[in-house]
Amino acid sequence: MKPLKIISTGAYVPERVVTNDDLSEIVDTSDAWIRERTGIRERRIASDDECTSILAARALEDACRHAELDPQDLDAIIVGTSTPDAIFPSTACWLQRELGLSGIPAFDVMAGCSGFLYALEVASGLLAGQTARRVGVVGAECMSRVVDWTDRRTCVLFGDAAGAAIIEAGDGSSGVLSSNWGSDGTLADILCVPAGGTREPATEQTVANRRHFVHMEGSRVFIHAVKAMSRSVRKALDDAGLSGEAVDVFIPHQANIRIMEATRERTGIPADRVYSVLERYGNISAASVPVAIHEARQAGVLRDGAILALTAFGTGLTWAGAVLRV
Ligand code: UT7
Repeated sequence: MKPLKIISTGAYVPERVVTNDDLSEIVDTSDAWIRERTGIRERRIASDDECTSILAARALEDACRHAELDPQDLDAIIVGTSTPDAIFPSTACWLQRELGLSGIPAFDVMAGCSGFLYALEVASGLLAGQTARRVGVVGAECMSRVVDWTDRRTCVLFGDAAGAAIIEAGDGSSGVLSSNWGSDGTLADILCVPAGGTREPATEQTVANRRHFVHMEGSRVFIHAVKAMSRSVRKALDDAGLSGEAVDVFIPHQANIRIMEATRERTGIPADRVYSVLERYGNISAASVPVAIHEARQAGVLRDGAILALTAFGTGLTWAGAVLRV
């Protein structure tokens, strides 16, 4: 076991709630379709003066408050996001600026919806190597800025939020029992924002062609998501020598209730172990796992000593899975 203690968690969701009925006023959709095909009832949308680093800063502050720490007490900050404030500098540096911090290393991990689990993997390596003693790990997304609000196939799916965890090596009674991660760049184009980077720089034409918005081949992504997440959880359980039954709380990435359920079925984890925030927040990408962990802790569902299984899948394609004793 790699020693790791989640000493606190935090979350931030914007105030504005957008329901499925609200969306049916701007695109040709319905509450019934969205609920049946995705399990989503509503999502939060950032205000004009909020961007990813602001959501991230609020979530990290919340985690610090729960630990009775000052953000200055952290040794490093890692932000998992695919909706950065800007191409550069990193969203983690914008977050530092928002919190008035300087000195400690702050950087982003870009792994789409797998961003938080990738960041956690990096952070646990920093702890194991004694490069850091206490790391703030954040998953934050402002998806509303990159979805095409005229495209019903994607705009109904996503939401804005941030979740954070403060981790230390701990006393050895908790940690990562096993973890795995992977990616497949050959499928980079089935879920991407095509323009705005160096591959396809911004021009009037790219804007006119709406190439700065999310492009997703939904059903292909669906199939890969189920395969990759169920495989990574099964591997993590096998490597930890545990059965699905041994899992107390299962938090898969929350993109679609059908993906979550098909993934769970293939892992042998009982249905009552799943903790979901999907219905209220939609697909909040890298924020989904940490927000769900935070809410599960707050609700008393995730207690010290529990076996927690996590998995995520996203653009890249990327995936990750982990089993922890918390
Ligand atoms: O976070 C990781 C990345 N994202 C995901 O994991 C998402 C993966 N994909 C999905 O969750 C699902 O593929 C979707 C929810 C995006 C779509 O569900 P689906 O069951 O795969 O539907 P579909 O794309 O096959 O579309 C079925 C029908 C189509 O109409 P026709 O061609 O059969 O007449 C769509 O045009 O549903 C139509 N449709 C809609 N109808 C009402 C698509 N979006 C909507 C909508 N409202 N919002």
